[in-house]
Amino acid sequence: MPHRAYVIDEMISAKSIAARVEALAKEITRAFQGTDKLVVVGLLRGSFVFIADLVREIDLPVEVDFLEASSYGDAMESSREVRILKDLRGEISGRDVLVVEDIVDTGFTLHHVVNLLRSRGPKRLEVCALLDKPSRRETAIKATWTGFEIPDEFVVGYGIDFAQRNRNLPHIGKVRFTGEDDSAAR
Ligand code: IMP
Repeated sequence: MPHRAYVIDEMISAKSIAARVEALAKEITRAFQGTDKLVVVGLLRGSFVFIADLVREIDLPVEVDFLEASSYGDAMESSREVRILKDLRGEISGRDVLVVEDIVDTGFTLHHVVNLLRSRGPKRLEVCALLDKPSRRETAIKATWTGFEIPDEFVVGYGIDFAQRNRNLPHIGKVRFTGEDDSAAR
């Protein structure tokens, strides 16, 4: 499949991410102090690197679970329709829950997931998002904790992809197109 050529310009360094993750984990540890167990729910697939780093800095008993919601597919725009592709393995009724998201863009994904999980009666449910694009928001949802607010740019790296590529980049960079063929971008 032909791809429109692009380069990735570094936006947030691996060092800055690590420092911010450590600070977020401290706040989360403080907020849930005394919990018997914190269920950390990673939204697949974009949060897998973030959640791996975050849980290792959280000083609480932790259970890790994953949920996959449909997102952009291979496109760069939200479909607005959110479907659950993979549900949690565990129960969250009466539990302390932290939802971990890579990016809050329009907010439709998080809004849908939070409503679904709240309907299962958790004791407490908070959200930690690595990135937030506030200028793109189309719902009232807001994460409890946000790593970085970023402008309206398409970003990749640190678990975040463009058409399943670039998840293994250690930093976060923005996609800048250089070529003419955009058959793969939309
Ligand atoms: P929302 O439902 O519009 O908030 O979209 C959230 C999801 O879209 C994120 O979890 C990402 O999977 C994806 N997404 C949003 N912005 C970007 C981006 O800049 N790069 C890659 N994926 C993105």
